Parts: sequence; structure tokens; C-alpha cells
Amino acid sequence: NKTIVITGVSSGIGADVARLARFHGARIIGVDRNEPSMTLDSFVQIDLSDPTAIDAALDALPEKIDALCNIAGVPGTVDAELVGRVNYLGLRHLSEALTPRFNQGGSIVNVASVLGIEWPERIEKHKALADTSYFEEGVNWLKSNPVPQETCYQYFKEALIVWSTQQAFTWFRDHGVRMNCVAPGPVFTPILGDFVTMLGEERIEKDAARMIRPAYSDEVADVIAFLCSDAARWVCGVNIPVDGGLASTYI
Ligand code: NAI
Repeated sequence: NKTIVITGVSSGIGADVARLARFHGARIIGVDRNEPSMTLDSFVQIDLSDPTAIDAALDALPEKIDALCNIAGVPGTVDAELVGRVNYLGLRHLSEALTPRFNQGGSIVNVASVLGIEWPERIEKHKALADTSYFEEGVNWLKSNPVPQETCYQYFKEALIVWSTQQAFTWFRDHGVRMNCVAPGPVFTPILGDFVTMLGEERIEKDAARMIRPAYSDEVADVIAFLCSDAARWVCGVNIPVDGGLASTYI
């Protein structure tokens, strides 16, 4: 049975991935800043915005891992630096620290967003950020390349997709670990209300007119579970929208 580390396990999409993976017999190691409401094989409380906290918790995480689901995230209604730390730098730090622990056939799934695929003109910035080699170097790069508060959520989700895509082949070749992203559209979870505040009524109405409905979190969890599974053993370096067709309407 697979050993799966799930960040953001205490709410929304992360909790649903944990439920699904447990149902399939996986051993679940949950990571979150908040306590989970369900019973897991183990839970490690980590504030993913803090690289020292991540390093301090590494001993509590398993020596051998089959999958890492990077699901924890904060909306753009919190300070832009915190968004960068949790949604990008912390995720990257944890993934890099755990990569040597993967069994053959390992998989990393990063939860991006449909909002992270709208700003291709910033690709060079994202590549430069991806080239920073550790957490504090990334923080310093962001100090000299400040990200506007209004678009910080989009910015770091896109940066995440760029980093994942750039990194994927090397990690697959050198460590046997596949890395992929999923990009959900709106999902019925506690964070959804923050997106309304973040994007404003006008944008929400525009999206609502292009959508059948927001997703239920299990609809996103199923795709994450697929990417963790051996059925996806040759899928590497992709970003799969899980949005009921929303992104396709922007073409
Ligand atoms: P949620 O708010 O229900 O869950 C987020 C989880 O991340 C929470 O358990 C929270 O405690 C944890 N978390 C936040 N900051 C943390 C930190 N510093 N350290 C450790 N854990 C932390 O939200 P949801 O919807 O389940 O979000 C999961 C992912 O999906 C996020 O990355 C989000 O950006 C992404 N997403 C969500 C969409 C939606 O409409 N709900 C749409 C597109 C992407």
C-alpha cells in the first residue's frame, strides 16, 4: 500500500484526497497548520510559510514516500508575501526536501488554479524565480521583484505551474518521481468566499456565466488520486485543468 503525504489535509480538497486515498488502503500522513477533523495514520503540524518549521518537521515525516500531494494554500486576501511563502516557496521547499525519500514510481501533485494560466507574459519572471535555489533566496528575489497584492494569488499559482513543468523531467529522470499539477476552477470549499472578495463581483459574475457550477471537492480529489496512482505512471510535467470547462471558454 502506498504512503502518501498530503498538505492542506485539514480542510476542503486535501481532506477529500485523504478520505479517498484511505478508502483505497493508502497510509496517510497529513500536514497542515490546523488539526485535522478526521483520523489519519499520522499528522504533522507544520506552518508551510516557514522553512525552519518545515526543516524541523522532516524527522516526523516518513523515510519512504510514494506520493506527495501539495494541496495547502491561502487566498490572495492575505498579505502577498504570505501567499508566496505558502503557495510557492514552502511547497517547493518541502518537495525538494522529500524528493530523495521517494520509492520508485513516486508522484508529486501540486494544486495550482485555473487563475494561474492567464498571465503567460510573466513567464520570464516565473523562470527567474524558479532559478532561485532555496527559500530565503526566493524571498530576497521577491523583495527586488515585488508582486502586486491584487494579482499575487494568480502570480504564485502561475509560478508554481512554471516551476513544476521546468523541474518535472529532471526529477523523473534522476529520482523516478513524476511531478504534475491540477488547476481547479472554483470549488465548494471554505476558501471559495475569499475568492469572491479577491476577484470582485464583476469577475465572479463573468466566470459564473461561463460555468455550470463550482466543483465539489471530490471531483478534484479524484484527479489528484489518479495522478498519484500507477495508472498515471507515464504522465509527467503536465497541468490538468479540473474546472468543468471554464478555462476553455477563455480561448
Ligand atoms: P481550504 O481553505 O479548505 O484548505 C486549505 C488548507 O490549507 C487548510 O486546511 C489550511 O489550514 C491549509 N493551510 C493554509 N495555510 C497553511 C500553512 N501556512 N501551513 C500549513 N497549512 C496551511 O481550501 P481548498 O479549496 O481545499 O484549497 C486547496 C488548494 O486548492 C489551495 O492551494 C487552493 O489555492 C487551491 N484552489 C482552490 C480553489 C477553490 O475554489 N476552492 C480553486 C483553485 C485552487
